[in-house]
Amino acid sequence: MRLLLLFITALFCISSLSADETATLNKPPASLKQWYKPANKHNVWHHNMFKLRREIQAVSEYMAEQDQPHTEKWASQLVTHYRKIAEMVPEWKDELELEWADKLEVAAKQGDFTALNVALKKLQTSCKGCHQDYRAQVAAIYRSPDFGKIHVTIEGEDTSYLDFMKLLMRDVNRIKIAADDGNKEKAQTALKAVRTGITTLRSSCDNCHKEASAKEYYLGDKTTALLNELKTGIDKGKSGQILGQFAVQACAHCHASHRILYDLKAEIE
Ligand code: HEC
Ligand code: HEC
Ligand code: HEC
Repeated sequence: MRLLLLFITALFCISSLSADETATLNKPPASLKQWYKPANKHNVWHHNMFKLRREIQAVSEYMAEQDQPHTEKWASQLVTHYRKIAEMVPEWKDELELEWADKLEVAAKQGDFTALNVALKKLQTSCKGCHQDYRAQVAAIYRSPDFGKIHVTIEGEDTSYLDFMKLLMRDVNRIKIAADDGNKEKAQTALKAVRTGITTLRSSCDNCHKEASAKEYYLGDKTTALLNELKTGIDKGKSGQILGQFAVQACAHCHASHRILYDLKAEIE
C-alpha cells in the first residue's frame, strides 16, 4: 500500500511537470467505520477528536500558568484519548507518537514544564500529520449526506433521487425554453410541474432532518415568493431573471452543501 502510494506520489510529481495533473487521496482503514453512524450510535471518532483539542488547550493554558495539579489532570485525559486512537484504529498506530505520550504524562506528574512542552509539540506534530493525510476524506466519507438510499414518490411511482433531479431540471428548463419562445401557456404548465416538484423536494428533506427549519432555508418563503413572481413574470414576458434567482435559491444552494459532498463521498468511498 505504502509502495503504491509512493509510486503514485512519484507519478504526481512527474505529471505536475506536464499538462495533466493527478491528485491522490489515501483511503482511511475500514476499521474506522465502526466509530461512525450508522454502525455506531454516535460519531465516536469525531467526538474523541473534540476531546483531544480541548485537552491540548487546557494543558497549554495550565502549563503557561505553571499550575501543576490542573496540568496533570488534563494531561492524563489527553494521553488517554490519544492512546484511544490506536485502540480504535490499530492500523493508525504508526501515525502516533506513543512514547512521547508516555513522556508527557510523566512530565506533567513531575511538574517538569520544559519537558512537557517538548512532548506536547511532538504530539501536535502527529495530529497535523494525520490530518493532512486523512481528515478531509474521512469527513466526506462518514459525515456527508448519503442520497444513495433516498427515494421519492412521483405519481405513485418509487423514484430515485437522481431520476427525480433530472425531472426537476427538465421542468425548469421547459419554463425557460417556452418563455423564450413566447409560449406562455406551455411555460405555465411547466411551472405547475415545478411547484409539484418543490413540494416533493420538501418532503424528501425529512429523511435526514428532524427539524422543519432545515427545509425552510432553501425551500421556504423565499422560494414560494419566487414561484409566485414567476407566474406573473411569464405572463408579462419577463421571467428570465426570476427563474435564475429561483434556481440559485431552490437548487444551487442545496447542491453546494449536499451534492458536492455526496459526489465526493461516492468518488472516494
Ligand atoms: C491517526 C490520525 C489522527 C490523529 C493522530 C489525530 N487526528 Fe484529529 N482527526 C482525524 C480525522 C480522520 C479527523 C476527521 C474526523 C471527521 O471529520 O469526522 C480528525 C478531526 C479532528 C478534529 C475535528 C475538527 C472539526 O472541527 O471537525 C479535531 C479538533 C482534531 N482532529 C484534533 C486532533 C488533535 C488535537 C490531535 C492530536 C492530539 C489529533 N486530532 C490527532 C485523525 C487524526
Ligand atoms: C441524505 C440525508 C440528507 C437529506 C435528504 C437532506 N439533507 Fe440537509 N444535510 C444533511 C447533512 C448530513 C448535513 C450536514 C450536517 C448537519 O447539519 O446535519 C445537512 C445540512 C443541511 C443544512 C445546513 C444547515 C444545518 O442544519 O446544518 C441545511 C439548511 C439543509 N441541510 C437543508 C436541507 C434541505 C432543504 C433538504 C431537502 C431538500 C435536505 N437538507 C435534505 C443531510 C441531508
Ligand atoms: C437536497 C437538496 C437538493 C435540492 C433542493 C435540489 N437538489 Fe438537485 N441534486 C441533489 C443531489 C444530492 C444530487 C445528486 C444525486 C445523485 O447523484 O444521486 C442532485 C443532482 C441534480 C442534478 C444532476 C442530475 C444528473 O444527471 O447528474 C440536477 C440536474 C439537479 N440536481 C437539478 C436540480 C434542480 C433543477 C433543483 C431545483 C428545482 C434541485 N436540483 C434541487 C440535491 C438537491
